[in-house]
Amino acid sequence: MRGVGNYSTFFTRAPSIGAKYNTAIEAMRVVIDPKRHPAAVLDFVAGHLRSSFPHYSWVGVYRLEGDVLKLSAWKGDQATEHVAIPLGQGICGLAARTKETVVVPDVAADPRYLACFPTTKSEIVVPIQSDDRVYGEIDIDSDTLAAFSPSDRQFLEVVAADLAAYFKAKG
Ligand code: SME
Repeated sequence: MRGVGNYSTFFTRAPSIGAKYNTAIEAMRVVIDPKRHPAAVLDFVAGHLRSSFPHYSWVGVYRLEGDVLKLSAWKGDQATEHVAIPLGQGICGLAARTKETVVVPDVAADPRYLACFPTTKSEIVVPIQSDDRVYGEIDIDSDTLAAFSPSDRQFLEVVAADLAAYFKAKG
């Protein structure tokens, strides 16, 4: 699948992950447009992810400012107290530091986990990065144990790459 309309050269070719994943990528690519304001883009992406995938119980997008991850957009039933996370803390800090996706199938078994919601059972954090620069990350909590499949990971890495292209274009 290619990017939509005029943006076919802006996004990289997305792999075929599965119908619902590829449909979601297409829908978000219409909105991930450098002409739009970051607050509008991130709000849409967080909302679209949450409403399209029932096992994504809470979706947040953090942006890296200096050495601190700042919560820019979120969708879920509850607000988090973790609106600013230093790079040294939590699964969020780890993913931004290592520039690697972190999947935690059972948060209760991971001492690195920073607790947010009592209902959370598993988590995935995907860095938004391009050319070695980390712009932020997508953080998703699930109320289901081991909720995130390899397809979820592949899908969210495409979304993160699309957001990295957006931030890079914004300069
Ligand atoms: N659990 C995260 C903190 C953010 S909340 O999930 C919203 C972590 O361990 O970094």
